[in-house]
Amino acid sequence: MWYKNLTFNANFYTLYRIFSAKSNKLSPFSVKTVVSQLSDLSKKAQDKMNSVNNFAGLLEFEKEFLGKKSELAKISRDLKNLPAEEKKEIGQQVGKLRQELTTFISAKKEEFSQQELAQKLAGEWLDVTKEIPRKKGTLHPISQIQQKVEEVFTSMGFEIADGPEIETEWNNFDALNIPAHHPARDMQDTFWISRENSDSHKNYVLRTQTSDVQIRKMLKHGAPIRLIAPGRVFRNEDLDASHGNVFYQVEGLLVDEGISLSHLKGTIETMLSEIFAKKVKVRLRPGFFPFVEPGFEVDFSCTLCEGKGCKTCKNTGWIEFMGAGMVHPNVLKNCNINPAKFSGFAFGFGLTRLAMMKFGIDDIRHLSSQKIDFLSQF
Ligand code: PHE
Repeated sequence: MWYKNLTFNANFYTLYRIFSAKSNKLSPFSVKTVVSQLSDLSKKAQDKMNSVNNFAGLLEFEKEFLGKKSELAKISRDLKNLPAEEKKEIGQQVGKLRQELTTFISAKKEEFSQQELAQKLAGEWLDVTKEIPRKKGTLHPISQIQQKVEEVFTSMGFEIADGPEIETEWNNFDALNIPAHHPARDMQDTFWISRENSDSHKNYVLRTQTSDVQIRKMLKHGAPIRLIAPGRVFRNEDLDASHGNVFYQVEGLLVDEGISLSHLKGTIETMLSEIFAKKVKVRLRPGFFPFVEPGFEVDFSCTLCEGKGCKTCKNTGWIEFMGAGMVHPNVLKNCNINPAKFSGFAFGFGLTRLAMMKFGIDDIRHLSSQKIDFLSQF
């Protein structure tokens, strides 16, 4: 290593000779003492250099050889007692030794701080490609049911349709055979966005039902038509434990030649049997909706008790499920479809009830609880 090659030692003998001959201030003995001190010091320093292997050791070394109380400092102080010439000569040697020691120390400092940094970096190293176990999210039960419903209907040739949540009064009410002041409007408490216009095409509501999509699509595509329209609907109702004011509905519409109620029943039974993966029965009870004639309330056989009667079906064996019926001729006419040629069925159901039945959820509030522990079960 470089510090093994300290060069000044060779000169000490020469110096000694000079001092012995010329000095008149110090006795040759004193000069000799200084020279041998320097020589000893240099040897001592060289011996110790090899054993300096850490910062603490280096600081000790620095203090010992360059500190205020070091031999070198003492020799430097003694220099003033030497005659000018010798002072210069020997002073140079002292300076050289000091320089070599300083160089050694700063090189070692650098070496140790590099080592320290390397150690630190090795300790702090992190693998950015390492896979961190993460909890995967799950689809909300309502989304899962919606996807399943879409899958079943798509396989029966239905299209998935969509419509805006802010809807004209005309599409949401008038076209569906619910004129202004008709008592049926009271069935659906409405969030009005604007209602001051006499033209119902120019007033806006948050749609109260997905039936508006029937109108939009029949106007655009005419008949035959076969679609379902899942989406959110809004009702201006007081909130309590079992009532929200945003619901998820799925609208269904099929208009073609020769469509009858049996098509409706068959379609719904097929859909429910697919979703529950078992035979589900459907029954129709008379019901009133202005846009269908005849209109029905549709129930399905309780999938929890198989129709025997339980808490969920209130011991009736049936679950109230949806509104449905044959599309009213006025609605077809409003959409420029000839009721003499075409007939169709329409239905609308809520996804919440279906999700609760499918997953055995007994409290509607769980669905909007946003509790991960609960939701990740599905
Ligand atoms: N739109 C009705 C509701 O929201 C449901 C319905 C749809 C009834 C289609 C009959 C036909 O209550």
